[in-house]
Amino acid sequence: MTRIPTSLPLGRGLRLLVAAVLALATVAIGTSAATAQPRLPTYRVATAPIDDRVDDLVKRMTLEEKIGQMAVFNITGIQGDCEWSGGELNETCMKQILVDAKIGNILSGGGTSPAQNTPRAWAEMVNAIQKYAMDNSRLHLPITYGVDAVHGHNNVVGATKFQQQIGLGATWDPQLTGLLGESTAKAVKATGPNWNYSPVLEIARDTRWGRYYETYSEDPFLAAALATPYIRGMQKTGEVAATDKHFAAYSEPFNGHDRAPADVSQRYLQDTLLPPYKAAVDAGALTVMANSGAINGVPATASRYLLTDLLREQWGFTGVVVSDWDDVLALQTRYHVADNYADAAALAVNAGVDMAMLPPTDNGQFPAALLQAARDGTVSGKRIDQAVRRILALKFKLGLFDRPFVDPAKADAAVLGADKDLAVRAATESQVLLKNDGNVLPLSTGIGKVVVAGNSADSVANQNGGWTIGWQGIPDGSPEPGVTIVEGVRDLLGAGKVELATSTDDAVTKTRGADAAIVAVGERPGAEGLHDAENPQLAADQQDLVDALQATGKPVIVVVVSSRPLVLGKAADAKQLIAAWLPGSEAGTAVANVVFGKANPSGRLPVSWPKTVGDQPMFYQQLNGTNGGESSGYDPLFPFGAGLSYTTFAVRSISGPAAAGRGEPVRVNVTVANTGSRDGDMVVPVFAQQPVSPILVPPNRLVAFTRVPLKAGETKTVSLSFPMSRLAVTKGDVNGSGARAVLPGAYKLVAGDQSTNLAVR
Ligand code: BGC
Ligand code: BGC
Repeated sequence: MTRIPTSLPLGRGLRLLVAAVLALATVAIGTSAATAQPRLPTYRVATAPIDDRVDDLVKRMTLEEKIGQMAVFNITGIQGDCEWSGGELNETCMKQILVDAKIGNILSGGGTSPAQNTPRAWAEMVNAIQKYAMDNSRLHLPITYGVDAVHGHNNVVGATKFQQQIGLGATWDPQLTGLLGESTAKAVKATGPNWNYSPVLEIARDTRWGRYYETYSEDPFLAAALATPYIRGMQKTGEVAATDKHFAAYSEPFNGHDRAPADVSQRYLQDTLLPPYKAAVDAGALTVMANSGAINGVPATASRYLLTDLLREQWGFTGVVVSDWDDVLALQTRYHVADNYADAAALAVNAGVDMAMLPPTDNGQFPAALLQAARDGTVSGKRIDQAVRRILALKFKLGLFDRPFVDPAKADAAVLGADKDLAVRAATESQVLLKNDGNVLPLSTGIGKVVVAGNSADSVANQNGGWTIGWQGIPDGSPEPGVTIVEGVRDLLGAGKVELATSTDDAVTKTRGADAAIVAVGERPGAEGLHDAENPQLAADQQDLVDALQATGKPVIVVVVSSRPLVLGKAADAKQLIAAWLPGSEAGTAVANVVFGKANPSGRLPVSWPKTVGDQPMFYQQLNGTNGGESSGYDPLFPFGAGLSYTTFAVRSISGPAAAGRGEPVRVNVTVANTGSRDGDMVVPVFAQQPVSPILVPPNRLVAFTRVPLKAGETKTVSLSFPMSRLAVTKGDVNGSGARAVLPGAYKLVAGDQSTNLAVR
C-alpha cells in the first residue's frame, strides 16, 4: 500500500497539483504484479528481474533524463531561498532542479533538515520530494535521498546518537557494529532517506586531521573488521545503501589539513591504505564515494586507475560511484586539471564517477556541462548508459520504484529515543581505562559526595561531536536531548550526592568538601577542515582544572571526551584516566557505569595516544630507522591496544601450525585467563612479526582478534584464524609497484607475552 503524506509542506499551487495527480500515481505505483496490466512497461513490473527492468527503462530515456540521474543535489537548493537558508520546500526551485534539470537524487549535507526537524517532518519532506519527482518526470522516476548518518541518524533531533566511529574502534566488537548498522538503517529508512554516506574506511594516523574521529582505527585490519558487519547490518533489509568512503587514501593529507594533497607510495597504498576499502566492497557496499583529495598528483575524482582499473576491473565492484561535495567542479576551479566544467565532467565521468554530488549553488550547471561533453563526444553515450544503469539498478534494489514512500505517522515512534540500550552498550564498551593508580576505580555507589566538573561535564554538544544536528555539531540553543555526564552520575547516585562545578574555583572549593571529583575535559565539536588542529592538545584551562583538582588530594577521575587522543600536558599525570571519545546521546549513563563499576571497562585503544603534539603521524606500525634518537621510533604515551580492566587478564599460551603454505588460512589457539576477582571481557589481539624481511615490514601487524567474556578465575582457549594474505606486501625495490605477495620465511605470532613460530613456505 502506498501512503501519501497528508500534509505536504509545499506551496499552495503545488499542493493542488499534487492532489490532482495523487489518484493517478497511486493507481500506477500501487499496481501489484498479480494484477499487472499487459500495458505496464517492464520496468514498472515489481516482479521482473532487475536487469530486465533496467534494460527496458534505459531504452526509454532521453540523454537529458539520463544525465539528470547522474547528479545528487543538496536539499537546501530546493528549500527557502534555494541556496543555503533551508526552510520549507520551494516550488519554484523544485521545478528548476527536478523538472528542468531533471536531477534524480537529493541529499541532506551536514546540518540540513526539514523546516521543522522531527522524524515525521523528515518523512513528509522526503515523501513530498519523492512524489513531486515521480509525478513530474515523464517516466515517473523515484529519487534516492542521501544522508550522513554516521553515528546513528545524527541529523534528526531526538534520534538516538551512537558513539562516533573512533570510539567504536575501541570496542573491538564487530557484533556490536553490526547491530549499530541495522539500527541506523531502521531509523534512516523510517524518515525517508535510503542512502547512507557511511562508514568511513580511512585509518587514523595523524591527530591533526579534523576527520580523525570519523575513522575506526589506525589499524587497517581492525577498521575493516568493524566496518564490514556494520555495512551488512545497514543493508540487511535491502532498503538503505551503505557507502564505502572516501576512496582512497583520504586520511593522508601531507600536512594534516583536510583535503590537502597526499603523496603515498604504491607500497603504502596497496599494503596499508586500500585493504579496508576492498573489504567494504567485498562486504557488498552498494556505493563508493570518491576521495575529495589528490593522491600522487592526481585528484581521486579524476583517477581512472582508482575508480575503474582497481575498483571495477580488479575488485569487481558493480555499484554506484558518487563524487564527494562539489568535486567535479573542483577539477576545474581547485585542481586546474580541466579548463571548464564540461571538461571537468568528462574527466570525472571517464575516470569512473557515475554521479556528481552538487551543492545548491550548482543549480543545474553540472547537467549542462555533462550534456555539453556528451554532445562534443568527450563522454560517450556508452559510458553514460553504463553509469545510469548502475544508478537505476540501485534504485530498483532499494525498492524505490515499487515502494517509494514511507509512512510519516510511524516515523516519530520509530526514531525518537529508539535503541537507547544499544547506544548505552556502545558508549560503555568504548570507554578505555588508561590509568587506575591504586585501584581507586571503581568508586563505590555508597560514596558520599561527588563533584562533576569540566567543559564536557554537562554538554550534549561536546559528547556528540561533529555531524550532530549541525554539520559542525549541535548548534547553540538547539534542544537536543541526551544524558550528560553529570546527569548520568546523578541518575546512578541520586541528585543529592552530586554537585556540578561551574568554574575552576568552584570545582576546587566543592571538591575539598567532597569525596571525589569526576572531571570531564575535552574539545568543542567540529567537522572536516574546520576541525583540523595544528596543536591537538587539551586546552590550557582544562589542563589547569585537572591540576587544581589534583592538588586537593581527593581522588580525581579524569574523563577525556574528545575526537582524537589529545596531548594531555599537565593532565598527563592524572591517576585515574578514562578515554570516552565522543560517546553520543547516552554518554552520561556509560561513563557512570564505568566509574562506579556497573560495567567493567573493556575498551582498548584503537589508536596510539601521543605524548607530544609534534610526534605526528604516529602509529604502532611505523617502521624503525637508523636514528636511535629519542622518540624517533614509536614512542606513545599509551600504545595501540592499551586499556585496563577492574580485573586482571593473562595470556597463558598461543599455539599454531609450525609451517603453512602461502595460500593457506592460519588457525591459532590462544589460552587466556581472568586472574582477578571480577568478571570481564578480554580483548585478545594476535600480531604477526617477521624477524627478517627483505622489505621493511611493521614490527607488529594485527592479523586477528577476538573478545572473550571471562568469569573471575576462568580460563578459556579460543580459536582464531586469518588468511595468509593478511601478511602480503608489495614486492620490488624503491619503485616497487607490482602485485602483493606473502614472503616466505620465518614469522612469529604473538598474543600478550606469548608467541609461536610459523614457517611460511
Ligand atoms: C564530506 C562527505 C559527506 C558529504 C555530504 C562532504 O563534505 O566529505 O563525507 O558525505 O560532504 O555531506
Ligand atoms: C559539507 C556539507 C555541508 C556544507 C556546508 C560541505 O563541505 O560536506 O555536508 O552541508 O559543506 O557548507
